[in-house]
Amino acid sequence: MNKKIVLKLENVNKIYEGNIEDIHIIRDLNVEINEGDFISIMGKSGSGKSTLLNLIGLLDKPNSGKLFIDGIDTTQASDLEKNMIKNEKLGFVFQFHYLLKEFTALENVMLPGLLKDYSKKNEIKERALKLLKDVGLEDRALHRPTELSGGEKQRVAIARAMINSPKIILADEPTGNLDEETSEKIHEIFKKINKEFNQTIIVVTHSKELASITDKSLILKKGKIETL
Ligand SMILES: Nc1ncnc2c1ncn2[C@@H]1O[C@H](COP(=O)(O)OP(=O)(O)OP(=O)(O)O)[C@@H](O)[C@H]1O
Ligand SMILES: [Mg+2]
Repeated sequence: MNKKIVLKLENVNKIYEGNIEDIHIIRDLNVEINEGDFISIMGKSGSGKSTLLNLIGLLDKPNSGKLFIDGIDTTQASDLEKNMIKNEKLGFVFQFHYLLKEFTALENVMLPGLLKDYSKKNEIKERALKLLKDVGLEDRALHRPTELSGGEKQRVAIARAMINSPKIILADEPTGNLDEETSEKIHEIFKKINKEFNQTIIVVTHSKELASITDKSLILKKGKIETL
């Protein structure tokens, strides 16, 4: 059975214009990622991992090339369409969680769902509670971010990334700030949601332990990708 392609990059280039010289950080990159793939992106500091993830996450634009998400050519999409894709087809987990401090864990998880369809508030709340349970935080739902540990905040961020059943979860060094034991717990959660929900996950990491549990590691080097 052919797997569905959820992400496709075609000859993507990214150049940062500098005062002295331009930095050609992504070079004619071609990548295809299938639904349900659990992919790690590795490479040394400055190799362009975050740049690539920001392109995939529509937080930045390539200088040339095409980027398809779930079959949609995002390089042709309007800002409005891109915002819709970001909220509904992508889920983000960053090194720093970016939870809103005025809101509880539950409300933070619900938020992208409410932005999508406020009229489904009750269903969204049920789903958010279920997701908090999936990440082992059912008894922390009413805590605010300041009342949670670093690992707990990261788990809330994962639940929030899942709320709209995104096509792809993008994570940039999600355990970069956490101790080894807590990191491993988060890695297991990624593995679990990948297996149980066939969730596509692309994670940038320096952790060999995390890379070892992914299906494939893409190594960024000189603007190109080497597959392990
Ligand atoms: N907005 C920008 N303008 C100019 N240069 C940039 C910009 N953002 C990143 N760069 C440069 O592009 C290169 C790639 O940066 P990027 O953040 O993608 O690296 P990275 O692989 O994520 O590194 P790390 O592992 O340290 O997070 C770096 O040399 C960086 O200095
Ligand atoms: Mg980075």
